[in-house]
Amino acid sequence: MNAKVEEMVSIIRSKTDFVPKVALTLGSGLGNFADEIDVVCEVPYAELPDFPVSTVEGHDGRFIMGYLDQVPIICMKGRVHLYEGYTRYKTVLPIRVMRALGAQILFLTNAAGGINERFYPGALAMITDHISIFAPNPLIGPNDDDEGVRFPDMTNAYDSDLRSIIREVAARENIDLQEGIYLQLTGPSFETPAEIRMLKSLGVDLVGMSTVIENIVANHMGMRVCALSLVSNMAAGISKSPLSHQEVQEAAAKASVRFTTLVRESIRAFADHLS
Ligand code: HPA
Repeated sequence: MNAKVEEMVSIIRSKTDFVPKVALTLGSGLGNFADEIDVVCEVPYAELPDFPVSTVEGHDGRFIMGYLDQVPIICMKGRVHLYEGYTRYKTVLPIRVMRALGAQILFLTNAAGGINERFYPGALAMITDHISIFAPNPLIGPNDDDEGVRFPDMTNAYDSDLRSIIREVAARENIDLQEGIYLQLTGPSFETPAEIRMLKSLGVDLVGMSTVIENIVANHMGMRVCALSLVSNMAAGISKSPLSHQEVQEAAAKASVRFTTLVRESIRAFADHLS
């Protein structure tokens, strides 16, 4: 295990021997999900030396560990993005820490711009695949062979079994669930209409500023990954109105009941897929 990860794990281990099986990151405005957890231990990021801390409004910063029904879960309330100036390495460090604590499944959530015209603000969309080539790859540099192979396979980057479960849960709960391909840009500026037209021609359904690099590092470590976007706005030029971070947070608030139900029930259903 890399020295930095080891140091953070040992600090967390001095507080709790809790072993999470599912890791969950909460995107912009989606932090309320943490209220669903029967908390065993909370660790503010500030207590972990050099842990990346978010600078954006709407992001709180701590690990919350506990149970979602029977499932031991670690939840990141608050996360950092490349646009804050953190390196690729530091941005994905929290994923490595959660893996080292025991997490087998990573559930990523985010707020995204909708490019697919069937989507609408407030829609929930499950990510089926991604395009990483506009974001820096987090695995560039020496490979840690204990963590994973040099050239990780990305064929099932969003685990097909987990996707089936989420789809079944959405149907059972009567939640309208879209599906699509996500592309990460660095941000922080939103896209221009010309950029969105280009992305549309590449087959992109959802655009955002996170998730892909976390997905890559988790796949590298052998985690199974799934991801859910909240379509907080239609992307630039798809809708005529200017984009704002406030809009992102308002859409999250409106979708919060559906989002919470889908994530909670999906994680409960993952219980049969954990060892
Ligand atoms: N573009 C990029 N990232 C985003 C958007 C968007 O339109 N909405 C929320 N995150």
